[in-house]
Amino acid sequence: MATVLSNHPDNVTNEGLLAWVDEMAAHCKPDQVHWCDGSQEEYDRLCDVMVEGGTFIRLNPEKRPNSFLARSHPSDVARVEDRTYICSLSKGDAGPTNNWMAPREMREILTPKFDGCMEGRTMYVIPFSMGPVGGPISHIGIQITDSPYVVVNMRIMTRMGSKVLDALGNGEFIKCLHSVGMPLADGQEDVAWPCSPDPKNKYIVHFPEDREIWSYGSGYGGNALLGKKCFALRIASNLAREQGWLAEHMLITGVKNPEGEKTYVAAAFPSACGKTNFAMLIPPKQFVDDGWEVTCVGDDIAWIKQAEDGKIYAINPEAGFFGVAPGTNYKTNPNAMESIKENTIFTNVALTDDGDVWWEGMDGDPPKHAIDWQGNDWTPDSEDKAAHPNSRFTAPMDQCPCADPEYDNPQGVPISAFIFGGRRSTTVPLVYQAFNWAFGVYTAATMGSEMTAAAFGQVGKVRRDPLAMLPFIGYHMGDYLGHWLDFGRKLSNPPRIFNVNWFRRDEEGNFLWPGFGENMRILKWIVGRSKGKAASVESPLGWMPQYKDIDWRGLEFSEEQFDQLMSMERDEWLQEIASHDELFFKLYDRLPKELTFIRELLVSGLWRSPEHWDMKHE
Ligand code: GTP
Ligand code: SPV
Ligand code: MN
Repeated sequence: MATVLSNHPDNVTNEGLLAWVDEMAAHCKPDQVHWCDGSQEEYDRLCDVMVEGGTFIRLNPEKRPNSFLARSHPSDVARVEDRTYICSLSKGDAGPTNNWMAPREMREILTPKFDGCMEGRTMYVIPFSMGPVGGPISHIGIQITDSPYVVVNMRIMTRMGSKVLDALGNGEFIKCLHSVGMPLADGQEDVAWPCSPDPKNKYIVHFPEDREIWSYGSGYGGNALLGKKCFALRIASNLAREQGWLAEHMLITGVKNPEGEKTYVAAAFPSACGKTNFAMLIPPKQFVDDGWEVTCVGDDIAWIKQAEDGKIYAINPEAGFFGVAPGTNYKTNPNAMESIKENTIFTNVALTDDGDVWWEGMDGDPPKHAIDWQGNDWTPDSEDKAAHPNSRFTAPMDQCPCADPEYDNPQGVPISAFIFGGRRSTTVPLVYQAFNWAFGVYTAATMGSEMTAAAFGQVGKVRRDPLAMLPFIGYHMGDYLGHWLDFGRKLSNPPRIFNVNWFRRDEEGNFLWPGFGENMRILKWIVGRSKGKAASVESPLGWMPQYKDIDWRGLEFSEEQFDQLMSMERDEWLQEIASHDELFFKLYDRLPKELTFIRELLVSGLWRSPEHWDMKHE
């Protein structure tokens, strides 16, 4: 079928953009091309089209106004790290933790796949800005996609539409090409969730030198919403390194103390390890009564830059939440529950008989009957889960009751502390502060975490996930760690660095720490430390709070329980540090040498300390 090019909007003058869209249209051969204006009308119309086509189920407007449920193909439920490539010119630049293929070879594989891949479909052109439009830390991308699901999600997750084309002018943009990889040739019927079901026929590909992203075969989350992991982390980490800033897998949250003093912290936890919860934390009652307040700037990605005043500032490049649904309820995260009351897209959760959504860990009793994420009848006796463990909600940031007043500020917010934290059942204490920037980078670089359902892999297995960025660094990890060391070296008063572990368990497998809102107690100590106020003692790993240094009002938590959470076994830690070497040897050719020296210092600190170190020891 001949390609019908719709007229591009009047405000597009960018020759490079026009040429690229024409070229892609000629190659992908869609029935039509639609330039997205980002309007509510466009959003509503696309949602209606998807309801008609079976991709969306409109939820009961009385329970969940203007909200929809999508169910993905069972092969397309999470990021596919083994199909994700960094195609730099040299293999060495991608490093040992990324899949690599020569750009030319990859283009030879993918070019025929994209040839005619949009037959029978509409090609959407999505102009989007990561960060407030026109802001000094922001960047513009253009995503071409054949998925209306992607368009409506991008409208929530980014600043999208005509205003971005105005801001772009003749400037540079990141080319993001996406197809679900299921052309409708010869009048073939569409399906509710088009994708390429063969896992080997999905490709999430980055060309860092050309600043291009090509994504083929998946419609889900980080594989398909290319502004998110592909652009804001993998491509942006390349830009950031070249230009001296940071693109990180971090939440940003503001903490106001009773005196009205505001402190912003940024925290990196791996996928499905509590960023959304921490970013929107509601402090315990006693804290709220005193006047403590926590507000959310972002829950997944931070772009961080030094400003003229020498301080470092962070923006959240996103405009919405793509959050993990299971486990979200009015106890664990009331602000998230309020954020998803309306205008929300749910993917792979269960549908209740009254047209609302449900997932494991929602408030109240499970429904007696529901339709599970695969479209089958479900009852509490069913063996399968009603919602997929990586089911998600997409909701606009401005619906969050605790959105920080500065979340839209193009200059960003000043950052006083970095927090790192993995999911560790054993070994790692609840909280400690690194001795200095370089020790902090070591701690972050060697962070381990038990794997979750956010990516295909062995759930529960501990893997090293440096700075929670293992799947997201768009170049050699050794260079990335060097960049972090450099970044701090240039700051006269770098943010303090902390490590936390909300996930330590007892022998029976119970969490030792209540977590969620109670994390405020630790956050208060962290904020105090970063202002040089809160007390601490020296441990072999860093500075730690004693029982008396934490505000326990309103929680029954004994000194013994605290000791158990904070304790360190020398043997366990020697093993832990030995396992850091596995990562270090992998990165050997580009590992900054400071990190090896710090490892030695940590080992010698452990040998100076008792075999069992706890807070009673001073
Ligand atoms: P991505 O969006 O995948 O990058 O992850 P995220 O870090 O934003 O994930 P999210 O906050 O949605 O993590 C959800 C998981 O973490 C659920 O299993 C929660 O129950 C769990 N979780 C979050 N905070 C805590 C906590 O303080 N303690 C415990 N035990 N679990 C927590
Ligand atoms: C993650 O996996 O870290 C996410 C979800 O934030 S996705 O956007 O699918 O990558
Ligand atoms: Mn994430």
